[in-house]
Amino acid sequence: MAHKFDAKKAGILDSTDRAKFLDPDSNLGKLGLDREQVLVDLGCGSGFFSIPASRLVKKVFALDIQQEMLDILNEKIKKAKITNIEVILSEESFIPLHENSADVLLMVNVFHELEDRSYLLKQVKRVLNRKGRLVIIDWKKIEMDFGPPFEERLNEKDVINIGCSNGFTILEQSNAGPYNYLLVMGKS
Ligand SMILES: C[S@@+](CC[C@H](N)C(=O)[O-])C[C@H]1O[C@@H](n2cnc3c(N)ncnc32)[C@H](O)[C@@H]1O
Repeated sequence: MAHKFDAKKAGILDSTDRAKFLDPDSNLGKLGLDREQVLVDLGCGSGFFSIPASRLVKKVFALDIQQEMLDILNEKIKKAKITNIEVILSEESFIPLHENSADVLLMVNVFHELEDRSYLLKQVKRVLNRKGRLVIIDWKKIEMDFGPPFEERLNEKDVINIGCSNGFTILEQSNAGPYNYLLVMGKS
């Protein structure tokens, strides 16, 4: 089974240090989001991206397979009185959302954790509308003393190839920060 981020360590995801090298606001700012859009944050964890995204779009669906993560996010939503995030417990290879229901599907540091990437991409394709975009931010395949081990990381080329083999085409490729890449794909 693919290694999953331990929900007991969720504090790391919200650390100020992390925001220095992976800034949600500046990365979301690159996506041209607007108030008409629906964004899915798949593998939302404790909502490091879901909460800032909720200020830019009409609605955020925040999904994760770990209820502990969603509990943390629900607390934050309650405290901040946010009304446009819907939190949903997801399944490893099934996204419990209607077809054509999203404009953007974001996965931040999730793609390398997936059990069956091709299968999940078929689900992403179903959920995204015709002009919908898949945004993948993940760890660069470099040796580092934090983040997932080298063997678990995927390089950008491999992610693009997996996307292209599953009905996507690459639209943009850039850096999300010094240690992470950002890929934007559309349905081909
Ligand atoms: C490293 S954490 C990143 C959390 C969040 N995206 C962030 O950047 O703060 C990866 C998260 O993806 C979730 N995850 C892994 N596989 C998943 C899947 N197939 N569907 C939904 N969530 C998944 C894990 O439970 C974990 O919370």
